[in-house]
Amino acid sequence: MPPQADRPRLHQLCEELLSHRNLIIASNRGPIDYRLNEAGKLQGRRGSGGVVTALSAISQYMDITWVASAMGEGDRRAAEMAQWRRFKAPIPGHNLYIRFVVSSGSTYYKYYSVFCNPLLWFLQHCMWNSSHTPNIDARVRDAWENGYKFVNRAIAEAVINEASESELPPLLMLHDYHLYLAAGYIREQIPNAIIQHFTHIPWPGPHYWQLLTRDMCQAICGGLCASDIVGLQTERDVHNFLHTCEVFVEGAEVDYKGRTILINDHHVKVKAYPISVDVANLRKQVRSPLLKEYEDKIRPFFGEKTIVRVDRLEPSKNIVRGFRSFDILLERYPDLQGKVNFLAFLVPSRTRIKQYRRYAEEVNDSIEAINTKYGNDNWQPIKAFYENNYTQALAALRLYDVLLVNPVVDGMNLVAKEGPTVNTCDGVLVLSEAAGACEQLRENALPVTPCDLEGTMEAIYRALSMSPEERSQRAAALKKSVEEEDITLWLYRQLSDVNALALERLR
Ligand code: G6P
Repeated sequence: MPPQADRPRLHQLCEELLSHRNLIIASNRGPIDYRLNEAGKLQGRRGSGGVVTALSAISQYMDITWVASAMGEGDRRAAEMAQWRRFKAPIPGHNLYIRFVVSSGSTYYKYYSVFCNPLLWFLQHCMWNSSHTPNIDARVRDAWENGYKFVNRAIAEAVINEASESELPPLLMLHDYHLYLAAGYIREQIPNAIIQHFTHIPWPGPHYWQLLTRDMCQAICGGLCASDIVGLQTERDVHNFLHTCEVFVEGAEVDYKGRTILINDHHVKVKAYPISVDVANLRKQVRSPLLKEYEDKIRPFFGEKTIVRVDRLEPSKNIVRGFRSFDILLERYPDLQGKVNFLAFLVPSRTRIKQYRRYAEEVNDSIEAINTKYGNDNWQPIKAFYENNYTQALAALRLYDVLLVNPVVDGMNLVAKEGPTVNTCDGVLVLSEAAGACEQLRENALPVTPCDLEGTMEAIYRALSMSPEERSQRAAALKKSVEEEDITLWLYRQLSDVNALALERLR
């Protein structure tokens, strides 16, 4: 179903909802990130991710209130200036309101830097070394009680407060692993709310969740089951979620075929909505003069052939193993030395968390070792750009011969969809089988097992030596596949299901 055809329908759907509903979105990170500049003035920067683009796009047709955590000093100042109420986002033509929830520094630290990221993120990306980690000690229990539960309750209260205006049951869309408990708290206060929760990251099976305490698993699954619709990225995640609830939610009747869970007369629908990119918006962005400037800036770093990767600097992205495979490639095929360059665009992320700092060091060490081993005055095999510069990354995605996306495991991975959409060189996608995107793109990418260094090296070699005809045919097929299922469809599917439920409730 082409996204172009969906656009008018999405518009119509929003208008249908708009005539009588209030749409409230909640996520940890808000759609605009506020910073204080050197002069102490507040500056808002719009989030660049597909979710922000897609959801703020529908605020052209309907009022949307977005409840989010104040993540830094800038967000806190913006919240204070709005007297802790919602305020209109400075996006012309959009009715998007933001309400920041402010928690104390220590509460937020427990929530974000002890529970959400080192624990839940690591669990759901299967990144633990279970003979040593995790260790659920008093510090983690405290973070659960006084960080995770606390922030979830605070976000839920803000949502409840925003929803109190609407006469009809409000429509609520909650996002990700930061907010697993919010639906439960909201349901207690607004029994007839229509709640959808979407998890962006992978959902492992119950044997992995068992590494967490039973009360935590019960609360997480129970909290999610207070929603009407639980959305996940892939069919594999849906199956794992159903199985996890069967194990941890007392009295849950799980219907694997119908993908529903029944608990005390409450039906939960569990469904895969694979997220995608905003193709139209990406095409607009790549035409910008700024992007052309970046293309000129980075072009000198390209070789005869160039491998590119774009990632948050994040352990699950498997950056070091990617470099190891490149190392093996240069060793095995010495004639490639001096000809093939590897450019890594790495966005610093979660730098307050020690596992992330340690991983950033490993990445840096690995680059230095490879550059020392093969580099000379005229050629350095790897060049890394450590910055949050989306336009520059897009410029690189225009020009790659090979795009390496090899996460250990990933909910979807939007780089795997952005790359083929904007690339102009018939570049080849080497893609981890453990990325959600592989469910859709496998046929025309070169799939690899993320821990298989030899296999990844061979896939890169195959990509570098592929005939122009095969490259072109694969690149065109990837582009078409992403175009046909872009973010408009992701949103349309979810809003249709939410709308259908709202109409059903009126009957
Ligand atoms: C992933 C998560 C998002 C998160 C993003 C950036 O994509 O699914 O919920 O916002 O990473 O992480 P951060 O911790 O910087 O918000």
